[in-house]
Amino acid sequence: MSKLIRGIRGFKDISPDEAFRHRYAEDRTREHFARFGYREVRLPLVESTELFARGIGEATDIVDKEMYTFPDRNGVSLTLRPEGTASAVRAYLEGNWKAPSGVTKIFYTGPMFRYERPQKGRYRQFYQIGLEAIGGPGPLVDIEVIDLLHLLFVGLGVNDVKILVNSLGCPACRPAFRDDLVDYIKAAAGKLCSNCLRRIETNPMRVLDCKVPTCREALEGAPVILGYLCSDCDDHFSRVTAGLTGLGVPYEVDPKIVRGLDYYNRTAFEAVCDRLGAQNAVAAGGRYDGLAREIGGDAYGIGFAIGLERLTLVMDWKSAELPVVDYYVAAATQRARIPALGLADVLRGKGYLVEADLEDRSLKAQLRSANRAGALRVLIIGDDELRDETVQVKDFSTGQQQTVGRDSFLKELQALKTG
Ligand code: HAM
Repeated sequence: MSKLIRGIRGFKDISPDEAFRHRYAEDRTREHFARFGYREVRLPLVESTELFARGIGEATDIVDKEMYTFPDRNGVSLTLRPEGTASAVRAYLEGNWKAPSGVTKIFYTGPMFRYERPQKGRYRQFYQIGLEAIGGPGPLVDIEVIDLLHLLFVGLGVNDVKILVNSLGCPACRPAFRDDLVDYIKAAAGKLCSNCLRRIETNPMRVLDCKVPTCREALEGAPVILGYLCSDCDDHFSRVTAGLTGLGVPYEVDPKIVRGLDYYNRTAFEAVCDRLGAQNAVAAGGRYDGLAREIGGDAYGIGFAIGLERLTLVMDWKSAELPVVDYYVAAATQRARIPALGLADVLRGKGYLVEADLEDRSLKAQLRSANRAGALRVLIIGDDELRDETVQVKDFSTGQQQTVGRDSFLKELQALKTG
């Protein structure tokens, strides 16, 4: 036998159980988004490299070292999307998706690709469900987006996710903060890790995000952006926090939230859960009023993306309905094999989940298999049943078994379905 060909590191296979959870979490999220008026869009997995370089920012880790970039056959540089926001804004501008009502509300779901070091909750191909509210500059949009995220967790029965909010200011007020921060970091340089030192010139705000304990300690007294906000940004942030309080959305202001994408301004937020360990952000997002301009258009925007793998990890699965096998159709004789499959089809046509034997096994083995599959009932057909047009119905929960007419059995099912 030749050697087993393995998958690529960080590209995780999603098993049937995990896929069920992804689908369930995604479906609940879609329904929730739809109630706020968001509509799905489907965006390409591949974009021109320039879109991300300009949109996300050359100095970010994502663009600098985490993108899957390759030339196409004409030598054009393409990139597997590392996130959805740049594509969503590009599509909005290109397709002229401006909603007559003002704010265009769209969502997307699917795989994203980043060349990060794989660990629990962090993969190189991962799945996001994200939304974007494009077109509204005012704080009410921010409030509704964060409120929506909070209510999603409430609806899913997850009560230990914390929402952290911050303001990242704007191009008018951020430079003064940045200068003071760089001075502070340079003075503390002796205590910082090599990653932080590299970021002093390229992306100093990300130093605040470093998880290394000695760096965190050295940065304890670092300047805080909230002290530098211009009056417009300050007013925006005050209205956002007051609005969240007014709606009863629990949140904490965390001035250390800086985000790893350059397009953010003003409101930035994360939803974190301690149960996740190091990769504790279930969802993250913020306002990106300058992004459209970077890629050749003009539009305000705010949004977030949820990591689906992480969402399924924080959800309480006791409340989710796992698929159950309603019927297992067993054939007691060789002649009954195809009629058994036929009966299974009839039941599937009525919407039931039905399994049948595909391995020519004995009746005893089929009953064992039905039991293992967790089937609620077994239907047995043999030569007698074929002749009499009957079926034996065995209920696993009560252990009762009875022979009933095939037609009256099917009629009764119909009554159950409609009744
Ligand atoms: P992000 O913070 O890069 O933001 O990613 C959002 C979420 O995706 C994270 O909180 C996490 O749950 C999940 N995630 C990110 N990277 C990985 C990974 N390597 N493995 C597993 N899960 C991961 C964005 O992507 C922005 N586009 C969000 C946004 C939308 N901002 C405005 N609109």
